Amino acid sequence: MFKTPIGTHDVLPEASARRAALVAAFAELGATYGFGELATPIFESAEVFGALGEQTDVVGKEMYVFADRSDRQMALRPEGTAAICRAFTQHRPTLPWKVTYGGPYFRYEAPQAGRFRQFHQLGAETLGTDDPDSDVEIIALANDVLRAAGLSQVELLVNSMGDHETRAAHHEALSQFLMAVTQQLDVDDRPKVETLPLRVLDSKRPATIAATADAPKITDYLDEAGEARFGRVLAGLDALGITYTVEPRLVRGLDYYTHTTFEFKSTALDAAQDTVCGGGRYNGLVESLGGPPTPGIGFALGVERLLLACDAESTFAVEPPTPQVWVVDVTDGSSARDLCALLRSAGIRADRAFDGRSMRAQLKLADRSRAELAAIVGSDELEAGTVTLRELRRAAAGDGYEQRSVARAELVSEVRKLLTASQVS
Ligand code: HAM
Repeated sequence: MFKTPIGTHDVLPEASARRAALVAAFAELGATYGFGELATPIFESAEVFGALGEQTDVVGKEMYVFADRSDRQMALRPEGTAAICRAFTQHRPTLPWKVTYGGPYFRYEAPQAGRFRQFHQLGAETLGTDDPDSDVEIIALANDVLRAAGLSQVELLVNSMGDHETRAAHHEALSQFLMAVTQQLDVDDRPKVETLPLRVLDSKRPATIAATADAPKITDYLDEAGEARFGRVLAGLDALGITYTVEPRLVRGLDYYTHTTFEFKSTALDAAQDTVCGGGRYNGLVESLGGPPTPGIGFALGVERLLLACDAESTFAVEPPTPQVWVVDVTDGSSARDLCALLRSAGIRADRAFDGRSMRAQLKLADRSRAELAAIVGSDELEAGTVTLRELRRAAAGDGYEQRSVARAELVSEVRKLLTASQVS
């Protein structure tokens, strides 16, 4: 028997409504903030993602790369930002370009709770402005999405990586510091001292955390302009009432960040995968993809992680839609066929059984579907040109059990009346 590949999941109908509600809430909030939706392909030339830094795990170890039938090196997208910068250089839109996006992303990671090989992101990017207020706008949008999902046990961590010079000076100081304490680091973190010293700060391993407590902080290397910029971002968050913690150890897993970086962490989730949303500014990325120098900032939130956080906080429960009417036909099925078509064309959610089931079996299915009403057609109704309407939910609740006979021609209007009444009661 075939199963989903390791680290992937089927999203079953029962779980789909909740995801769709999240995607809809995101699209609505994005539009409120003046963002338009952008869809890029699920695979791109592998070189597009090379711009994320060959050294990073995402590109070097986790990217799904394959040669297509013409031997072009392709990659399943591991994240959205590089592809959006590619789209930017291709289409040269007017500035600033504010886009939202989402869908499946792929990373060959060791699967665990909240960490998958195919996962989904919802993200937003603003390209073409370096105004720190656009950083605030991006963070505010992410914050609003998390609130819209009902999350409250979330903390925002912010940091500034400064510009290229700041990063280089900090890199130098950090490398020296780490070389002096290498033997005190957790053995698994030691190789990073040479390759990716910044990532050592991101380690969750106790020995490394203890040995790096006094490591040089990137915020101490900001120049005057970088400091002023960061100050303006923090003042903006204060002005909008968004609480945050400045975390100089905040290191993101991708290499392209300059200036503002941030993460929203759920305190209701396990520390290993508690980041529900991450983002930051990437002022050199468009250029590294062959475009004109263009500043950019954005975020992506992990849909599965966010929903796990919602589960942990018992929030954002979205029930899949149930039928409003279940058509029970104990004649030859033609009435079920025709009445379903009639109700559906009137925008009413209608469903039925197939295969000539008994009345009892059809009513059982109607009940299981949690339909509001049953529209029953037996031989008497067929002859009289009527339908028997039964209020299933009110009957189940023992409340005003009602069954009435209506003319077929009146079915839609009678159903509408009963549905309105059941919403009111
Ligand atoms: P990222 O931190 O790699 O950033 O991913 C963003 C979010 O996607 C994470 O915080 C997490 O919630 C979710 N995520 C990442 N990997 C997995 C996984 N294997 N399984 C489940 N969820 C996962 C980016 O992707 C950047 N493109 C964000 C960005 C946009 N920066 C600037 N603009």
